[in-house]
Amino acid sequence: MKSKKTSWILAVLVATISLGLLVSCAQTQKQTRAGTISEEELGLRQETLYNESSTVPVHGETTKKEPGESTRFERSFENSPPLIAHDISGMLPLDEDNICMGCHMPEEAIFSGATPIPASHLIDILGKREYLKGALDGSRFNCLQCHVVQTKLTPAVENIFKGEFRDERGRYRSNLLNTLNEGVESE
Ligand code: HEC
Ligand code: HEC
Repeated sequence: MKSKKTSWILAVLVATISLGLLVSCAQTQKQTRAGTISEEELGLRQETLYNESSTVPVHGETTKKEPGESTRFERSFENSPPLIAHDISGMLPLDEDNICMGCHMPEEAIFSGATPIPASHLIDILGKREYLKGALDGSRFNCLQCHVVQTKLTPAVENIFKGEFRDERGRYRSNLLNTLNEGVESE
């Protein structure tokens, strides 16, 4: 009689504990699921990280205005490389015939109305900083390495950066060569 009662109590106890465990397990599982981010949700592109085959780069709309018809953009910050204001389709690739130089080299810019290539591009900037007698430094040959066409698209993240200009003229012209050594002490 005594043992029957004990086993009843035991059974009820075990059942209560198991039920409690089950409930808490379910709760933890629910919490984990709610707090988990799937691989597709990771990052801004919202696609799987394991397969690139369906990933399409963002293609925005670029200007169709020809050189001479476009409007120059304000510089992003002092001495930043200016954005290309005009259409460049049909000008690429840049090989021996660098078509950009045909309008932008200082001696050509007088006729084309283009902003002349600045003094910083006409010295061996990575070497002795010597003037190259009017020639373009090799490190500046691939203009598109630094200058890009302004593209209209919806940015994934809003850009709230605001460039500052010590001189108002810097909004449309650069003067890097004059300011390059600012703050550098030499003996
Ligand atoms: C037919 C002449 C011509 C050619 C070729 C040309 N440009 Fe231009 N570029 C201009 C003119 C003119 C402007 C000034 C804006 C306008 O009038 O359209 C300009 C503006 C620019 C600007 C903006 C300058 C500023 O002060 O904001 C950049 C950068 C630029 N071009 C880069 C290039 C690059 C890089 C190439 C080659 C892929 C190129 N250009 C080819 C004539 C030309
Ligand atoms: C390694 C990067 C780099 C390359 C390559 C390069 N530029 Fe620049 N460019 C700059 C930067 C940075 C500035 C602004 C600071 C300065 O004056 O150097 C600039 C400024 C300019 C300006 C504005 C000048 C002014 O007075 O406001 C023009 C025009 C220009 N570049 C044209 C070109 C052309 C055309 C090519 C190719 C033949 C080219 N750049 C290659 C980085 C580059």
